This record gives sequence, structure tokens and C-alpha cells, in this order.
Amino acid sequence: MIDLIVTSIWLMIPAYIANPMAVVFGGGTPIDCGKNFYDGRRILGDGKTIRGLIAGTACGLVAGLIQIILAPVLAASGLFGSLDIFQSSLNAYTFNTIHVVFLMALGALLGDSAESFIKRRINLKRGAMFPVADQLDFVVGAWILTYILASAWFIIYFDMRIIVTVLIITPLLHITTNIIGYLLKLKKEPW
Ligand code: CTP
Ligand code: MG
Repeated sequence: MIDLIVTSIWLMIPAYIANPMAVVFGGGTPIDCGKNFYDGRRILGDGKTIRGLIAGTACGLVAGLIQIILAPVLAASGLFGSLDIFQSSLNAYTFNTIHVVFLMALGALLGDSAESFIKRRINLKRGAMFPVADQLDFVVGAWILTYILASAWFIIYFDMRIIVTVLIITPLLHITTNIIGYLLKLKKEPW
């Protein structure tokens, strides 16, 4: 079980970093430039900004680059010798898969924006709670974009056990980081 959890976190780090860093560095011009959709409501809303999208993706990419550099060190250290799945997933991110890191980070934020699009269509205001979707939008976004543009990679590393583990641990991690973000006054709502 520890093996699956550690592996899931390792594989998800670019997305796990991208999402909160959009909150930290976000603000300024909204992605939808303030425009409304046909239904008269905002396309995405003021909570999805260009700076958040770019800075979040960049931070996820940097985190992935650190993983790429660390992977051979961790593999050689033998520290995780007992974690078989993790050992074989350490080479998921290499310099040959930088594009995958980018897709995971960008996909996370596109998923987050897609959720805002849906929230606005069902008339939920910016910041309104949308349980489950609020916690998993970025995971699904990262997976869909990676599945579309790097399917061979995705199928190798995200088998059913990892997918289920990510779906269970992400809401727990997400709620914890959001409460921290709320206490640090980075977020207006603790979800
Ligand atoms: N943020 C941003 N750009 C993004 C994503 C997030 O600037 N692409 C910032 C915004 O300041 C946003 C905050 O992070 O208010 C919290 O993000 P989130 O909870 O996803 O947005 P909400 O404000 O709750 O808006 P929504 O209802 O659309 O989810
Ligand atoms: Mg929100």
C-alpha cells in the first residue's frame, strides 16, 4: 500500500504542484478576458487567470525537472529498495519525457478551468463549492491531456491500481493543502 501511495504521488507531482501554484501566483487578467458565454454568465470567471495558468504550468514543469534529476539518485541510493512499483516508476520522468511533465502540469490547470466552465454553466458563482469536482478536476485534466498526447506513456505508468490510489489520496491531500492555503489567506474558501 505504501508502495502504491509513494508511486502515485511521484507520478502526480507535476500536477500536484501546478494546481496550488496557480493559486499562489494567480491574479490579474482572467483567461476569459471578462467575457460572457451565450447564457449571459461568465465563460470561466475571475478565478481563472492567465498568470495562474502560466505560472502554475511553469512551477509544475520545474517540479518535474527536479524529479528528472532526482530519479537516478533515488534509484541508486537503494532507499526505496523495498518499494518495487516505485522503483520501476522512478524512470517515468526522464529527459525524454519532459513533454509528459509539461502535459501533466498544463492538463491539471486546463482541468481546473474546465471545471470552472461547468460551474458557471450551472450558475455556481466563483468560489462556490462543487464537491468531488473541486478535488479531482485537475487530476482528470492531467490524465486526459496526457492520455491524448502521450498515451503510450500514460498506459504504462497509470495502471488501474495507481488510478484508484490517486483518486483516493488526492481529495485528502487537496483538502489538507486548501485548508493550509485558507489559513495562509491565499484562498478565500477552504475548498
Ligand atoms: N487562480 C488563478 N488562475 C488559475 C487558477 C486559480 O489565478 N488558473 C487563483 C485565483 O485567484 C482563484 C484562486 O486561485 O480565485 C483559487 O482557485 P480555485 O479554487 O480553483 O478558483 P475559485 O476562485 O474557487 O473559482 P471557481 O469557482 O471558478 O473554481
Ligand atoms: Mg474554488
